[in-house]
Amino acid sequence: MVDLTHSHFAQYCYGAFALFISTLIAILIFATWAIAKPVGAADVPSGKDLFLEHCAQCHGSDGTGNGPMASALNVKPADLTTLSKRANGKFDAPRIADIIRFGGDISGHGTRAMPIWGSIFSNEGHGGKGGAAYSRRAVIELKTYLQSIQKK
Ligand code: HEC
Repeated sequence: MVDLTHSHFAQYCYGAFALFISTLIAILIFATWAIAKPVGAADVPSGKDLFLEHCAQCHGSDGTGNGPMASALNVKPADLTTLSKRANGKFDAPRIADIIRFGGDISGHGTRAMPIWGSIFSNEGHGGKGGAAYSRRAVIELKTYLQSIQKK
């Protein structure tokens, strides 16, 4: 004879409830991961591609400052292959990142001759998704690329 006592029923309810809750948690974890998936290197174009797309029109595809837009600017775009050379042989990564992100302290930026890329990348990067994370990653990629083209 089946003995469906009260406690058996309670146990059954508890089991079903626990299953429901763990499924819910799993869904929540997955949703959080899918939405807030960190922006990794694979989600951002290479530093070189970012440079050719966003910087080369002024700084030239080789970074020396002879891009097609250069002649239209009041302030000549800097030669980005001699950043280290002009700074006692040291690549000042924090300063370079600052210039890319916020415009930095140089005259060309004060007059907005050079756009402030941090906010541009935040707004437009990754199709509007990823925002700040995309921007941070793009700046790292660009900085690394610039470091790689420094003349000795
Ligand atoms: C609209 C033209 C323009 C674009 C596009 C542009 N820049 Fe510039 N950039 C300038 C000008 C002008 C200067 C300032 C030169 C000065 O003040 O002496 C400059 C200066 C710099 C400097 C400082 C150089 C130094 O010698 O201290 C860095 C670094 C730099 N740009 C990186 C970039 C990067 C990276 C990009 C692309 C994300 C970019 N620029 C896009 C025009 C531009």
